[in-house]
Amino acid sequence: MTTLTAALRAATRALASAGVPDPEVDARILLLAAAGLDRLALILDPGRALPRDATERLDGFVARRAAREPVSRILGRRDFWGLTLRVTPDVLDPRPDTETVVAAVLDALGPRRGEPLRLLDLGTGSGAILCALLSELPRASGWAVDRSAAACAVARGNLDACGLAPRSLVVQGDWAVALAGGFDTVVSNPPYIESAIIPELDRDVREHDPLAALDGGADGLDCYRVLAADLPRLLAKGGVACFEVGRGQDGDVAGLMRAAGLADVATRADLGGVERAVLGRQAAGMRPSA
Ligand SMILES: C[S@@+](CC[C@H](N)C(=O)[O-])C[C@H]1O[C@@H](n2cnc3c(N)ncnc32)[C@H](O)[C@@H]1O
Repeated sequence: MTTLTAALRAATRALASAGVPDPEVDARILLLAAAGLDRLALILDPGRALPRDATERLDGFVARRAAREPVSRILGRRDFWGLTLRVTPDVLDPRPDTETVVAAVLDALGPRRGEPLRLLDLGTGSGAILCALLSELPRASGWAVDRSAAACAVARGNLDACGLAPRSLVVQGDWAVALAGGFDTVVSNPPYIESAIIPELDRDVREHDPLAALDGGADGLDCYRVLAADLPRLLAKGGVACFEVGRGQDGDVAGLMRAAGLADVATRADLGGVERAVLGRQAAGMRPSA
């Protein structure tokens, strides 16, 4: 029987020789999941024996990671905004960059955060953005829309697991075509990768994120054109819209929001310095609220 330390070393070596970036980080996460332990156990009792069934589980996890399956896919879960969300092959693996959208919206809402706001998350996937926003806005309620029925089921499960089901509704649909307006916040992280670039993406992304969550058309902006044009109809007076964008798309998406008549259009950078979120506000008095 091997020990935790020896198993960690072996797993790290195997991942490193397969060319996995940050092999020690991934090996530690996979070891702890295989053993059903937390980080403290590894620190306090590194010589602890790893049972045979846990060793076999770890071997399976390491083989999958060496074949470039992301850790979150192997474990079926991802931490996002301090929440643990279930991810399946039907949904985009929520990225830390997307937390920029959450932070930007919360800042833009400012003193309104305690109000009974109505939120809309278009292309919700795992439900990550709506889960995060509702967890921070105690009186808000939210709608989530996705074209994929399987993604809707995952989002419902995550909202339920976070205790947010009573304040949310998940509907399958094509963006907001079936919805009336009156939303105080509209968020979206739509597919935004240029179609031609998809075959060149890292295997982790190309082979494990659903194509429907990635492909943004020839210039990557197809979804933004549809979504931005619908904002004046969807937003209540003073309402905030926020879209996640890919690297270098902020100028174009800001232009689409301005063309739709939104005011105070601004961007917010992620932790890597990439302008990741574009925000705009429905000018007060522009439209009657629903
Ligand atoms: C990039 S993923 C974002 C998922 C999630 N919001 C996140 O940030 O992790 C885009 C999502 O938009 C959905 N989608 C694509 N086209 C759509 C459409 N026309 N109507 C509704 N949802 C759509 C996809 O199914 C996918 O779940």
